[in-house]
Order: sequence, then structure tokens, then C-alpha cells
Amino acid sequence: MEGSWWRDGVVYQVYPRSFADANGDGIGDLAGIRCKLPYLAGLGVDALWISPVYPSPMADFGYDVSDYRGIDPLFGDIAGMDALIADAHALELKVILDFVPNHSSDEHPWFRESRRSRDSVFRDWYIWRDPAPDGGPPNNWLSNFGGSAWTFDPLTAQYYLHLFLDRQPDLNWRHPALREAMYESMRFWLRRGVDGFRVDVIYHVMKDAAFRDNPPNPAFHEGIDAESHRYLPLHTADIPETQGVVSAMRSVVDEFPDRVLIGELYLPLERIVAYYGEDLSGAHLPFNFLLIGTPWTARAIAGLVTRYEAALPSGGWPNWVLGNHDKPRIASRVGDAQARVAAMLLLTLRGTPTMYYGDEIGMRDVPVPFDEVRDPFELNEPHKGLGRDPQRTPMRWYPREGAGFTRGRPWLRIGDDVDTRNVATQEGDPSSMLSLYRALLRLRRETPALSRGDIRLLLADEAALAYERTHDGERVVVVLNFTGAPADLPMPEPAGKVLLSTHGDEARGALRPDEARIYRVSCLRRPCDGIRRTGG
Ligand code: GLC
Repeated sequence: MEGSWWRDGVVYQVYPRSFADANGDGIGDLAGIRCKLPYLAGLGVDALWISPVYPSPMADFGYDVSDYRGIDPLFGDIAGMDALIADAHALELKVILDFVPNHSSDEHPWFRESRRSRDSVFRDWYIWRDPAPDGGPPNNWLSNFGGSAWTFDPLTAQYYLHLFLDRQPDLNWRHPALREAMYESMRFWLRRGVDGFRVDVIYHVMKDAAFRDNPPNPAFHEGIDAESHRYLPLHTADIPETQGVVSAMRSVVDEFPDRVLIGELYLPLERIVAYYGEDLSGAHLPFNFLLIGTPWTARAIAGLVTRYEAALPSGGWPNWVLGNHDKPRIASRVGDAQARVAAMLLLTLRGTPTMYYGDEIGMRDVPVPFDEVRDPFELNEPHKGLGRDPQRTPMRWYPREGAGFTRGRPWLRIGDDVDTRNVATQEGDPSSMLSLYRALLRLRRETPALSRGDIRLLLADEAALAYERTHDGERVVVVLNFTGAPADLPMPEPAGKVLLSTHGDEARGALRPDEARIYRVSCLRRPCDGIRRTGG
């Protein structure tokens, strides 16, 4: 069925600098990723999304693109990407690229031209404004990385807009030629066989045409929150005209068979679902990051699942994410034991899961001393806990120096628990996180109720959450204990057979601390209205 791969499948995010370094320069590369494709196929994922590998001065580690149709020599070259795509496809893995439309690098030839003169044909490919009457920035818009979103360029005596670093000038999506050039860049990769895009900050691409000030944020905490939270992004994020751009991107993707459009969205639930677009003409998968910010309790997560499922437009396919290169890792957030419960949750909720590299071996955030910090966000707004280096540290393949990631000096430190948190060690251990992920991915693949079935919540109390997934007469029940105490949970016994426990053994009776289980329940013909409480 067309489109089934991104509905039934599992996406795995590769942060390319940190996955595998084939040439020994301490930074991951395409050749490294290529070597690890059999690992990903064996793990049981269906698609890899690769964070940007385009030419870039790396001010924001690739999210500052200086050529949308090339590969940075640090990572390889176009031929290397072609080979990666071919190898991935031979292993039945899809390849999703990052696409960064909101801003380019200040070293992109378009911006160099644009800043040269007010008369440049590229002038309006970016957003230039005269100074305010006092000579200051045109309005109060702030950069997501701190400070004003406007930088004065003395050469032409105007300010240019940048919602991120001053080295990431915002592109002007109101300009038809810019739009067409960006769509053509998408086609460039789609023609090469790329299976889709994850679109960076898709909700930012359009800004208020009148450049009105953003209103103050009453909930802002000085010195604690990121500076950009001082104002509500009313006129710089998610404005109505954005939807037109999203559906135009979707049309480009739809020119090619069976591709996917994923949008990065840090927005409230009711706005996330708006990005499916009218009549589903928007993103196939507007990223749902809500699990990242929801308190880790059964009730809070049940509430989230209920609200999200209810808010989805008819025919809109859900998706779930536990973490990414911008957010603290799940194992650090909820602890090692609950990270196993989280894995089962992610891979059994209804919708496409996106995994973050290293989560399958339980990697934690690695503390990075300030003198080794690389992330420009942390350097701009130090010591607020906003830095993103800890979740971007190298993947661990072997328990040795360099962790099998590099034979050189890694660009970020590897961390000190490599002996246990690495692929080789965990591969041989049936009780490891890696073995759990493999078993979950296998079970999901073999069980249509898990990959495409309906979902119904059965129970949520102070300790546990239970839901069922049903498809074509197949019924599976998932029960998860969110606490470190045994849970007197209603069990689907006696009709249920345990397919998998996070504890990796023959599970029976009450849920143990931090345990989650998947049951196959054989109540095909009679109504199965929930599970009975054991012991009353
Ligand atoms: C997105 C990326 C992040 C980047 C920012 C600016 O949020 O995920 O890593 O810094 O956009 O491109």
C-alpha cells in the first residue's frame, strides 16, 4: 500500500557528526553511516533520518546551510550520499534528509549577494529592514538563541532578520523566486531517491508582513528561561500564511511516489495537529514532541494520549517522539529503569515512532565541561541548562577508547560509562536495553495490531497505564508501571499471553517495579471491555 512504510514503520534519527567516523577526523561521516546500515537493518528500524549534511560553516553544526544541493566535505560527497541511499534501499531502509528552509548560512552565495547592495537581485531573498527611528532594531523580535533577531549590516545600513544565530539569516518565503529555488532543491534530492524530508522549524518560515512587535510573555522567568521566551512568538511563529508554504512543500514531495514530509513543530497540541493541513494537504507527520515535556506519570501520559488522539484530524496518522538532538535524553530524564518502560511505550502507542540514536543502548546525557562546549546556544546563554552537547555525544559501538566511533579525537567527549553502554557488549546480553529494543521492534513488525491497530485506553491510575491495540481480530494489551514499586494492576489474565516484558523473562502476576508488558489477548468474538482488577 502506498505510504504504508512511514505509517507502519519506525524512524531512527542519526546525528551524523556523532554516529560513526570512517576517516578518523573525530567527526562522523556518510561513509561511517553507510557501514552501520546493516546494524540499523538488524535493529529492525525502517527509515533513517539524517540531520543536515549539506555544505556548512557549522556555526550551528549543519543547520546553517551554504548550499542546499551539496554535501559538506566533512561528511563526504554527493557520490557518497548516492551510495548510501542505494545501500539503504538494498536493505529496505528508507532515507529521510533534513531540510532547513527557514534560514541559510551567512556564507550561502545568496546571502553574500543579498548583503552586497540594496539593489541586488537577491536582496529580497532575505529579510532586510531599516533601523527604528532611534537607530535600533526594527522591532522587538528575539533570536531563539538569545539577543535581538536583527543584526545591523553597515554596508547597506539596514538590519537583517535571523530567528537563530546572526550567522543564520532568515530566508524570505514571501519571495516567489526564493520559494521556487527551495522547491527545486527538494526535487534535487527526491530525484536522487531520497524518501522524504524532516523540515526544520517549519512553523517559523513565515513572519508577520507588518513586522508588529511580539507581546510580552507574562510567564517569563528572567535569568532562568531562554531569553527568547521574554515575548510570545505571536508574529514570528505559526502565523496563518505558514500553512500555504507547508502544503506547497507537500505538493513537491507528492510529485514523487511514496515520499514523506515530516515537520518539526514546537507548538501546543491543537496547533501541531493543524499542520496536517486542510484535507490532509500539509505534513504527513507533524512531529509530536509532547511526550518530551509531559510529566512521567501514568495519568499525565494517559491524558496526553487521549487529547492527542481526539485532536487528530480524520485520516491524520499520529506519531510519537521521546527525544532528539535538541532535548535531554530519555534515560537521563526518567532514569535507566523507566527508560525501558519508555521504549515499550514509544513502540506500542498508535502512530509512527521516531527513535534517537543511542537511546537503544540507554545512552545518557554526557556532562560537557564549559571549556569543551560546542553548542552555540549554550555559548550564547551559558549555565541555564539549555546546552545541547550532552545529547549529541558519539555513539558507542565497542567498549574501547574512541568507543569504536573514531580512531581519532572525538569532536565531543564520549563519556565514562562506555563499558556497559555500547552496542557490542549489549548485543551479547539478553537483558540489555539493546536486546529489549530489538525484541520490541521485531514484535511490532510481526504484530499488525501494534503497527497499525486502533488504540483504546483501558486504565490509568497513580502507578500504571494500560491500553489495547486491535486490528483485524487481533488484540494486544500493553500495561506499563511508571513507578519503582510493584503495581497491583488489573491484568488481562487468564486469557492473555505475555508476548514481552521489559524484564525479559517469563512474567506472571502483578507488575514488578518499573515493568511493562505486552499481552496477546484472545477475546476475539466476545466483547473485551477492559481488564479486570486482580485481587478485587
Ligand atoms: C531546529 C534544529 C536545531 C537547530 C535549529 C535552527 O530546532 O533541530 O538543532 O539549532 O532548528 O536551525
